Amino acid sequence: MTTPEQAPPGVDPAVPSVARMYDYYLGGKDNFAADREAAEKVIAISREVGNDLRGAARANRAFLGRAVRSLAARGCRQFLDVGAGLPTQENVHQVVLREVPDAQVVYVDNDPTVLVHARALLADNPQTSVVEGDLLDPEAIRAHRVVRERIDFDRPVTVILCAILQFVPDDEVAASIVARLCADLAPGSHLVLSHPFPGEGQDGPLSQVDGIYKRSAAGSFTLRSRDRLATLLGDAEPVPPGLAPVEVWEPGADLTPDFRVPTYLGVVARVR
Ligand SMILES: C[S@@+](CC[C@H](N)C(=O)[O-])C[C@H]1O[C@@H](n2cnc3c(N)ncnc32)[C@H](O)[C@@H]1O
Repeated sequence: MTTPEQAPPGVDPAVPSVARMYDYYLGGKDNFAADREAAEKVIAISREVGNDLRGAARANRAFLGRAVRSLAARGCRQFLDVGAGLPTQENVHQVVLREVPDAQVVYVDNDPTVLVHARALLADNPQTSVVEGDLLDPEAIRAHRVVRERIDFDRPVTVILCAILQFVPDDEVAASIVARLCADLAPGSHLVLSHPFPGEGQDGPLSQVDGIYKRSAAGSFTLRSRDRLATLLGDAEPVPPGLAPVEVWEPGADLTPDFRVPTYLGVVARVR
């Protein structure tokens, strides 16, 4: 486990970080006591509604891997991953570069711990960059010098927003962020999105999760129904199997998923 003395400059190890809490869900070691305590509370609340949160987080990572592998296999060579998270197993660049050795991957995050670890991991990798950026300012992300150097916006881009829009409480703001990040992308561009989902007919305990995240650096946590998630996509057109629980999402699959179970929902959508 990381000790408070190892906190990067500007990081208060007493304030939970959503990136480090997620690292803890995944079984990672880059987290402090405050992160583990907050994460354990969320795990306990999730258990009350029959949700294995750690399993769901691993399934979310696996979904991300399958989604980007399928897009790389179909020729996408540029990936902009906003809310990249702490490096773990099967990071986007590892999956993509196996498929397309000349791909470019740009990771964006606003968490200092993520930036320090990602930069250390990727220091010698010319095809992968790490940029400090805030999801709430999509124009600044699109205009960032490194993003412009690494990504040719005249060619198809895959924008990744996995397990991040739950930190934007307002649906209209979240939809506008998606639209602005995907504005004027070249034909053949895609959006990969995943989001925590309460399960249909499941209310109650999960609403307490927001109270725990309010004390984190992110400041809020919003679960969204299928309908609410669909509105975030705007003009982007889901490709089969559409919005589905991450455990069962497979590119092109013909599914009849069970939406009663709380988990993450994932979708790949063509950006129009
Ligand atoms: C739950 S993790 C998800 C990591 C990864 N995308 C995945 O699905 O496995 C959320 C990530 O989003 C980042 N994040 C949260 N709010 C952000 C914001 N406003 N701007 C940029 N990154 C943000 C956090 O620092 C964290 O690394």
